[in-house]
Amino acid sequence: MSTSSRARCLDCPFWHKLAAILFLVAVLTPAPAVSATPIKGRNHVCPTAFWNFGDSLTDTGGTLDVFALSLDPERSPYGESFFKRPAKRFCNGRVVPDYFSLAFKYPLLQPYLQAGAFDYNYGANFASGGTTASNDTSRNPIYLLNQVAQFVRFKQSATSQKNQFACHAFKQFLPRNDSYGEGLYTFEIGGNDVLNAILLKNQTAAQVVTQVIPDAMMNILATIKILTSNGAKKFLFFNTPNAGCSTIAMTVLASIPGLQKDDMGCIVFINELDQAYNKALNDTIASARLLYPGRTISIFNYYAANLEILTNPSLYGFNPALTKRACCGAPGFGTLNFNPLVTCGNPGSNKCANPEEYVNWDGVHFTDAFYRQIALWALSGKFTDNPVNYTSLCKLDFRNFAKSSTYNSVYPQSCRVTFT
Ligand SMILES: *[C@@H]1O[C@H](CO)[C@@H](O)[C@H](O)[C@H]1NC(C)=O
Ligand SMILES: *[C@@H]1O[C@H](CO)[C@@H](O)[C@H](O)[C@H]1NC(C)=O
Ligand SMILES: *[C@@H]1O[C@H](CO)[C@@H](O)[C@H](O)[C@H]1NC(C)=O
Ligand SMILES: *[C@@H]1O[C@H](CO)[C@@H](O)[C@H](O)[C@H]1NC(C)=O
Ligand SMILES: *[C@@H]1O[C@H](CO)[C@@H](O)[C@H](O)[C@H]1NC(C)=O
Repeated sequence: MSTSSRARCLDCPFWHKLAAILFLVAVLTPAPAVSATPIKGRNHVCPTAFWNFGDSLTDTGGTLDVFALSLDPERSPYGESFFKRPAKRFCNGRVVPDYFSLAFKYPLLQPYLQAGAFDYNYGANFASGGTTASNDTSRNPIYLLNQVAQFVRFKQSATSQKNQFACHAFKQFLPRNDSYGEGLYTFEIGGNDVLNAILLKNQTAAQVVTQVIPDAMMNILATIKILTSNGAKKFLFFNTPNAGCSTIAMTVLASIPGLQKDDMGCIVFINELDQAYNKALNDTIASARLLYPGRTISIFNYYAANLEILTNPSLYGFNPALTKRACCGAPGFGTLNFNPLVTCGNPGSNKCANPEEYVNWDGVHFTDAFYRQIALWALSGKFTDNPVNYTSLCKLDFRNFAKSSTYNSVYPQSCRVTFT
């Protein structure tokens, strides 16, 4: 509204004046979401930090920094596409939390535990490969509630350190006052609840539905309770992608007699279990919104996003003939270049010439290119229930998402940011 139109309105009927006054009040009153004590330069509509919880799809070192297991991601060609070396990620390059950091021009999200340089100003990553939302320790002793307990202990320690020592040398690297309340809490977990039960624990589909999923949901609700009581206000849950279309499931389950496949060749009962998990997650989050009003709790529909990529691969730069095939793996088992006995990075394995065209990296995990598309959607609120469009609200810059970007080009000579 221009000054002249406001001036004209002095002669207007009362309700016109009232509308003009309400308009001005709306413009002049700060949005309630803005904290009473904002830290200079940090816009509270946008996350000031990220706190991530999850499994290998978002692990940035949580497994390899803790367990000396000689896992594949320690070997080339893991990490090659962005880091130019193995970078403790189950990927050829960046995973979704990396893209989130790049979009906000933050340092890469640090794993909770890391030797040497660290930087918790922008949050921390508690994700660890093989973990579950239920208390399943079949592949990793750490499950979701342990990650949450680690967060709580971390917050206590960091706060105590900040308060105790006037000239603590590492104070500058600890979370800032607004990192907890104005941070975005992201969760990517649940796929292993289903897969561990079926592939490792010989549980039936019925047991997954009646035991595993309800246990997982109790823990998700407990997670939200614990984190809200620690000041969390913004949550973004990623549901489970359709693992029935993953290279590993399509390879190792292919020989089950009478196995039902859909018209893409995906294993129907695995996808149905993922959808059962996702339906339960929808219901759990609906309850959480009632229990904890005033918080923003969103769900990114990873299942729908993955399905969109598999259905229209060429729209997003993927090769339609290769959507189910592992870029890095070995022949000998089925036709998708996944051999559980010769996995990516081991002698006898091969790597495709152009990982950019692939959805699947190593038979189990996705590629750098796939996670880029997922991050673009999640940040813009696409496929999201209760969406927040960070792309527009925070004027995000996706230049560092380019295929040609490398760690050194994005973070030249950085001492603050590490990945090993
Ligand atoms: C899962 O573990 C937590 C502790 O981490 C415990 O409080 C909870 O009762 C356990 N849940 C089940 C179903 O055993
Ligand atoms: C952050 O919190 C500490 C301890 O409560 C306080 O001394 C400091 O002034 C706060 N800083 C800002 C910028 O609010
Ligand atoms: C798996 O469970 C089925 C029953 O659901 C049982 O018949 C079979 O022996 C079990 N297999 C193993 C390896 O434990
Ligand atoms: C979960 O809720 C979203 C949003 O309403 C919906 O699009 C999706 O289909 C639901 N998922 C399941 C598995 O019911
Ligand atoms: C989010 O904002 C961007 C930039 O304005 C826009 O291109 C995009 O369509 C928006 N996302 C959704 C899901 O509306």
